[in-house]
Amino acid sequence: MKLYDPQRKAPQFDKVPRHIALVMDGNGRWANKRGLTRTEGHKAGEIALLEVVAGAIEAGVSNLTAYAFSTENWKRSPEEVRFLMGYNKEVLRRRRDLLMEWNVRIRWAGRVPRLWPSVIEELKLAEKLTAKNTGLTLTMAVNYGGRQEIVDAVNKIALKVAQGKIRPGSITERTIEKELYVPELPDVDLFLRSSGELRSSNFLMWQSSYAEYLFSPTLWPDFNREELWKAIAEFGGRQRRFGSAEDAPLN
Ligand code: FPP
Repeated sequence: MKLYDPQRKAPQFDKVPRHIALVMDGNGRWANKRGLTRTEGHKAGEIALLEVVAGAIEAGVSNLTAYAFSTENWKRSPEEVRFLMGYNKEVLRRRRDLLMEWNVRIRWAGRVPRLWPSVIEELKLAEKLTAKNTGLTLTMAVNYGGRQEIVDAVNKIALKVAQGKIRPGSITERTIEKELYVPELPDVDLFLRSSGELRSSNFLMWQSSYAEYLFSPTLWPDFNREELWKAIAEFGGRQRRFGSAEDAPLN
């Protein structure tokens, strides 16, 4: 598949989300429907992710955060966990040059405990190599959990309070934001999940408090940039009020 194809141009959008949260769900079902193992589904998901990165760049999205491995995914079989750890490493290494060419900046959001040191090394190397890129920021959520991210932030703040660096009672939303895994991440505008499941699964809980949620029935390996563009177009039609209200009189 050609990842950059001039025939596949993004349409004009009314509004483009600045930050898309992506739950790449349905790999296992996609594979099992074809009589394949779940790992074959994850392999097929790699191209879908690159497709969506290319589509996001085309559309002018500046931040895409992809849920690659959650803190709950450790409950899967040891074989699947091992595969996903190895595959995360492999994909980062194999696709690094292409993402460099696309001017993509890679970031990692997640916690250290339990995560394979070799995966952390690969994530940190990708962050370092792409640090000066100015295009899309692709944040890989690996060993990530939304509640855990908040707990980790609270512990960092508690330490600063104990050290006398923060005054108790002075903690604001900004104080917490500064301690999140990637403090620079803007709030999520569009939260997109594939495979028809209607859940947020502990993903970017803090950042998604005013996100627009969109659920696509397409299984992740069948997802492509046109599906992303459909989602962006639907996002453009949503009225975001952030808690405010407008009077809409009935004629
Ligand atoms: C959820 O589908 C998917 C994951 C837990 C892993 C996401 C991994 C990829 C998309 C592979 C390519 C990308 C990288 C970075 C390695 P599921 O297994 O829960 O599917 P199911 O709900 O049908 O069982």
